[in-house]
Order: sequence, then C-alpha cells, then structure tokens
Amino acid sequence: MKGHEVDALIEQYGIEAVCQAATPLLEEQRIERLDRGLDAKLESLTVVLENLYDPHNGAAAVRSAEAFGLCDLHTVDGATGAFEAAPDVSLGTQKWIDLHRHQTATGCGHLLREQGFVLCATVPGADLELEELPVDKPLAIWFGNERDGLSAEAQELCDHRVSIAMHGFCQSFNLSVSVAMFVHRLAAKRRAHLGAVGDLGEARRELLRARWRGISVRGLDMVMRRLEDDKAVSS
Ligand SMILES: C[S@@+](CC[C@H](N)C(=O)[O-])C[C@H]1O[C@@H](n2cnc3c(N)ncnc32)[C@H](O)[C@@H]1O
Repeated sequence: MKGHEVDALIEQYGIEAVCQAATPLLEEQRIERLDRGLDAKLESLTVVLENLYDPHNGAAAVRSAEAFGLCDLHTVDGATGAFEAAPDVSLGTQKWIDLHRHQTATGCGHLLREQGFVLCATVPGADLELEELPVDKPLAIWFGNERDGLSAEAQELCDHRVSIAMHGFCQSFNLSVSVAMFVHRLAAKRRAHLGAVGDLGEARRELLRARWRGISVRGLDMVMRRLEDDKAVSS
C-alpha cells in the first residue's frame, strides 16, 4: 500500500485498528526490522532545502536524510515550484521520512522555532565550523540551492551560520554531498548527546508503527473492510 492510502485508512478506522489488522499478515522478521527502524528515528535533527532546481540533488538529499534516520525533511519551494525528488535516485525512501512543504522561508522558520529547533544556515566560508556547532538542542539545518546558495531571508532567520572548511580550489560542495556530510556528523553527535540511537515520541511512534506495517501489506484496505463487515455481522 502507498503511504497516503494507509493514512486514509488510519483516518477512517484509527491507528490501533490499522496496526492490529496489518500485524498478523507480516512475518516476524519484517516486524522486527520495522521496529528497529522506529527505535533509530531521530526527530530532533531535521533538514530544510530551499528552492532546489535539480530533482536528482533533492532525491539524493532525501535518501541521505532517511538513511541517517531523520524523521522529517522540509522544503521551501515558493520560488521554484513544488519540490520533486527523482524516483530513480530516492528509491522509495520517501515512504520512511515525512516531507513538509513550505511556501516561504519565514513560514518554515517560524514553525520550526515553535517546535523548539535551533536554526542553522549552511554557508560556505562561514566562521563557525561544523565541529563547533553545539548539539545540545534540536537542530534544523538549512541548505541553499545549487546556484545561489541560501537566500538572505533564510540566513537572517537562522541562529547560526555554519560551514565545512574547504581546502581545495572549489568554493563549495555539491548540495546533496553537503547534506550527507552535515547529517552524518550531526546525527552521530546528537545520538551521542542523547545517549540513545533514537528519540521518537510515543504518539508519533504509534502512528508510524501503524503506517509502516500498513504499507508493508498489499490489499490492507480490503482486509480492513472484511474485518469491519465481520464485526457488523457478529454484533
Ligand atoms: C553548491 S552550494 C551553493 C553555492 C553558492 N554559490 C553559495 O555560495 O552558497 C549548495 C549548498 O550546499 C551547501 N554547502 C556547500 N558547500 C558548503 C560548505 N563548504 N559549507 C557549508 N555549506 C556548504 C550550502 O547549503 C549551499 O547553499
């Protein structure tokens, strides 16, 4: 099943009913694999991509963020149109990470700040280096596009401007390479700070457990309808 189809079932029948219907149809190994994925999810580190042009870059960034266990990735795409990730590069990883679309950097920044994130702009040449960035609070790491980098609007919103030192003749890394390097290091440091591999809250864990088990079952909608019919007959 697709993620949005399972979400519709959750909306209709509730989280618990979907999870209960899907679980007996899954092999033990699959359930363990999905539960390990939930244990490792990191909510307190997120990525913001601003007005990307190249769907291959976007897809590679989504794939890296998911691979390092992030829960959420935000895009600001008011200037370039709806964010698209090339499917041949992202290889279906969008099922396992939530994408949030925003029209403006300001709107996205305010929302993340309300959620308790410290906002960090990645800017080639910025004085603060990646290793010096404090990791004691939730971090939202902002990346600019391939040509112009992060907008002035986004940089002004951020609490820090941070860089990875360059020692060759190029002036910046490729966008998706930058995402992978920042997330690799910051996810490791954040996990060390937390003393845990993941930090998913209980309510979200339950929702994702139902969604992930649901997407792993073909025809779950028919199964649920049958279960509901059986219930109606026996009551
Ligand atoms: C190709 S770069 C953009 C180059 C753009 N001309 C600039 O000066 O920002 C794309 C994005 O990757 C990130 N990036 C690339 N190299 C970086 C570095 N050395 N330090 C921090 N961020 C970097 C930034 O988010 C940047 O906006």
